[in-house]
Amino acid sequence: MSSALKKVLVPIANGTEPMEAVIIVDVLRRAGAEVTVASVEKDLRADASWGLKLIADTLIADCTQTTFDLISLPGGMPGASTLKDCEILENMVKKHADEGRIYAAVCAAPVVMLGPWGLLKGLKATCHPSVMDKLSLFATAVESRVQHDGQAITSRGPGTTMEFSLALVEKLFGKEKAKEVDGPMVRRNQAFGVF
Ligand SMILES: *[C@@H]1O[C@H](CO)[C@@H](O)[C@H](O)[C@H]1NC(C)=O
Repeated sequence: MSSALKKVLVPIANGTEPMEAVIIVDVLRRAGAEVTVASVEKDLRADASWGLKLIADTLIADCTQTTFDLISLPGGMPGASTLKDCEILENMVKKHADEGRIYAAVCAAPVVMLGPWGLLKGLKATCHPSVMDKLSLFATAVESRVQHDGQAITSRGPGTTMEFSLALVEKLFGKEKAKEVDGPMVRRNQAFGVF
């Protein structure tokens, strides 16, 4: 697997789930990916869920000439539907998919974006438990925490986003890099007696 520079696009909007956006960006940057956070709002600032304010690197309109190795879509509402309504993004993701590259979505994003865009056809996919019934309109709905089928990698919510992001690292850089990134994050449940 090539270890050349990998470019990743993570679009954000008002109402994006900040944990999902931030974990994807953080984990992929730990792996050495060049991640571009692009706002589909008028400004770089997106008011994410739970009062979190995110500042993007650029506006989506300034990304159309770039070829990304991966486009990864965060969930959260209404962020996912705002992303879905962004025609520039829709055209970019469809072209990216046509060209055989990997696309990924978590939480509501598989159902709200990838499904309606026709990018889950004939594929196994997962999404947030609250919208699983809708997912079966577009895909073979499965309850995996992370599902990889064809060019699509999907996942379920904030709590699965770290393993989802590591799956993206593995896809782009290989298993060794994913292990190297995973270790220092101390991800596994250490049984603190919380539950
Ligand atoms: C998104 O949030 C920004 C910052 O609060 C605000 O200026 C903008 O109007 C919001 N966009 C929409 C479409 O509501």
